[in-house]
Amino acid sequence: MASGHPDRKGHRTLRETPLSDAVDLPDFPLREVDGLPGEGGARQVRDSFQQLRDMHGFLRQRRERFGPNFAHGYFGFVTFAVGEPELVRELLIDRGADFSSRMGWDFSIGELFEGGLMLRDFDDHRAQRNIMQAAFRPGAMRGYLEIINPIIDRTLTDWGRSPRFRFFPAIKRLGLQIATELLLGESLDVRAGRKIGRSFVDAVNAAVAVVRRPVPPGRYWRGMRGRAFLERYFASQIEERRRSNRADMFSQLCRAEDEAGDRLSDEEIVQHVIFLVFAAHDTTSSALTTAVWALGEHPDWQERLREEIRAHGDASMHYDARETLVETDWVFKEALRLQPPGSFMLRRTVREVQLGPYLLPKNLTVSPVSRISHYLPDWWTDPDCFDPLRFSPERAEHRRHPGLYYPFGGGAHMCLGVHLATMQAKAFLYQFLRRYTVIPKGRRPVRFQPVPMPHPSNSLPIGLVRAVL
Ligand code: HEM
Repeated sequence: MASGHPDRKGHRTLRETPLSDAVDLPDFPLREVDGLPGEGGARQVRDSFQQLRDMHGFLRQRRERFGPNFAHGYFGFVTFAVGEPELVRELLIDRGADFSSRMGWDFSIGELFEGGLMLRDFDDHRAQRNIMQAAFRPGAMRGYLEIINPIIDRTLTDWGRSPRFRFFPAIKRLGLQIATELLLGESLDVRAGRKIGRSFVDAVNAAVAVVRRPVPPGRYWRGMRGRAFLERYFASQIEERRRSNRADMFSQLCRAEDEAGDRLSDEEIVQHVIFLVFAAHDTTSSALTTAVWALGEHPDWQERLREEIRAHGDASMHYDARETLVETDWVFKEALRLQPPGSFMLRRTVREVQLGPYLLPKNLTVSPVSRISHYLPDWWTDPDCFDPLRFSPERAEHRRHPGLYYPFGGGAHMCLGVHLATMQAKAFLYQFLRRYTVIPKGRRPVRFQPVPMPHPSNSLPIGLVRAVL
């Protein structure tokens, strides 16, 4: 465990811990996949393009052919995709510290989001996460809801005025507004907020850039420029935020300490806030888009939720109502099952390791894929159907195995924002369904594009009719 020592300003901070210094950096070999189900070699190029075009179809075809675990290529290296619940559980729990998250994620987001929690491993990761938990405790969460509710209220008033309305871009804008105010306490309406918002978006978009060189005016270059701006901006604010009692997450992190009184250093705070922006960005918006699409297609469920919300008198969701919105919770869970925003996790083996029947070589990318597990026909009833009742206590299909349903991941790296995301989603649905009835528009069936974040290809045009409560 990293130990604490006082920094220049007298705060106890963590001693510099080299990241995963016990493991080699990845070399991304383009290799055959001896002994593993699936295909390597020349097929990899074709696989990569098929995944970009139709990831859902690709995973289904492979599962039907090879079973729930299979190796496949992705732009020059091999990934072992794991969907079988027991192996997913082993992988995420990782008792032997065999799977490095940092090495898994490094090639795609390592440079842009350096030092973020997913880019840390083992003891170093645990120590940092312990301190960060302080910003997600109930007291902090109550404060976040007070920030979120009025933003939703303002935004929904505007939505009702728009004749040609597409849900996905609109919820993304709302998500960005919430992220900047919640994470930083800055409004997008003021100048600094606008620049921060643009830098957020640039940094996040760069994570999926195909050309990964900072060449102007490319997407990756814009991302790195965005990161540099955010670094300077956050660093300049830390001292003031530490002394403040502001409710936003950045200020909470500046003041956060673990039970031993350890705090984050200035550099760590900056790294974590920038990563939080990435982790929170568009994930909740994507899940809400799936939920609203499903509610448009299933007016009976829309009415059930409205009925549930009617039972609460308040115009916006009260903190204690989170637990009583039971059917809203099932719908959100089902949206996350059908279109998980983080549909795979990435790890790399730090040594040769046995995973169930498979002997995995050192340095292999291994990926628990919820988009496989969430659709396994042996475990779920009609997995392609929208059926929120599968989460009811009577059926509880998601509890049939701990490695079957994991939209927020699991084990040491399980999403730190799980309760925040769920609270935000419910707070949104609460006000949205109180005000509006959703009428589907445009061509159907709606096709979902799973990358970089699941969303309907047509951006989900819908009609909004004032609801009668
Ligand atoms: C519906 C919304 C969200 C989904 C589906 C989601 C999903 C996930 C998943 C699958 C992981 C695990 C990645 C891995 O193991 O490699 C993760 C990690 C993480 N998420 Fe979320 N997330 C959501 C929202 C949020 C929000 C709102 C925040 C914070 C403001 C957040 C913060 C984090 C952090 C910090 C991690 C890294 C945890 C660690 O490595 O210890 N997430 N998320």
